[in-house]
Amino acid sequence: MSSTEQTADALEAREVTISFEGLTAVDSVNEKLQPGEILGLIGPNGAGKTTLVNALTGFQMPAAGEVRLGEKIVSGLTPHWFRRHGVARTFQAGRLFREMPVSENIEVAAVSLGLNRKKANAHAMELLEWLGLADRAKLPAGVLPYTDERRVGIGRALAMNPSFVLLDEPAAGMSDLECDEIMKIVSEIPSKFGCGVLLIEHNMRVIMGVCERIHVLDSGKTISRGTPQEVQNDPAVIKAYLGHG
Ligand SMILES: Nc1ncnc2c1ncn2[C@@H]1O[C@H](COP(=O)(O)OP(=O)(O)O)[C@@H](O)[C@H]1O
Ligand SMILES: [Mg+2]
Repeated sequence: MSSTEQTADALEAREVTISFEGLTAVDSVNEKLQPGEILGLIGPNGAGKTTLVNALTGFQMPAAGEVRLGEKIVSGLTPHWFRRHGVARTFQAGRLFREMPVSENIEVAAVSLGLNRKKANAHAMELLEWLGLADRAKLPAGVLPYTDERRVGIGRALAMNPSFVLLDEPAAGMSDLECDEIMKIVSEIPSKFGCGVLLIEHNMRVIMGVCERIHVLDSGKTISRGTPQEVQNDPAVIKAYLGHG
């Protein structure tokens, strides 16, 4: 099923810089998220992770540098444009429609991209089944514990059949068992949906368990990039984490 224009192009940040009133939140960052890969984005609180994701999804216009989808410069285009062109995201806080049933929260995403209601419903149910939430489909989203809410958020992002999905701390505050479930879900995304993943996460077991490579930010700057093994042993990374307690 394809409700968006699937693309095999990479999603790229080139020298992206974003400032807020004198604070450089993201400082000349380069990264290229490839189709079908799982990239981890880590760094202490305030490192600029969410701001970078905002730039890569149309929520934030870079002050300098550019965002590209393939060869096309797309910085400054709207979040809606990004969604329509296969770039989906989740938010740190759920942002679900609380009065609306869980299944409809996912359906509306699919409908907004042109799927008819019946197909959107079938697709939502498939996604909920995969997420382990089928029995909660009819409940108002507002009654879900927030660990379930996070999973619905992932379903909603994937309902748009994206080429890329950017997940902002999907496992925050979860138990070990719930983290295992998130790890399983995230690791299945590339093969099941043909989708590349950027994963922001503080839980190192989750990051190390699912990411092929990792980008580390500290105070807006890239301080390390590499395989989980390389990054874990990088003195600059150890120092950044110790420095922030
Ligand atoms: N809208 C904003 N206005 C002002 N400062 C912001 C805004 N968004 C983020 N910041 C600041 O930018 C820095 C990076 O924030 P953020 O990207 O949320 O970090 P992270 O997601 O890595 O914790 C922080 O110092 C934060 O306070
Ligand atoms: Mg953040």
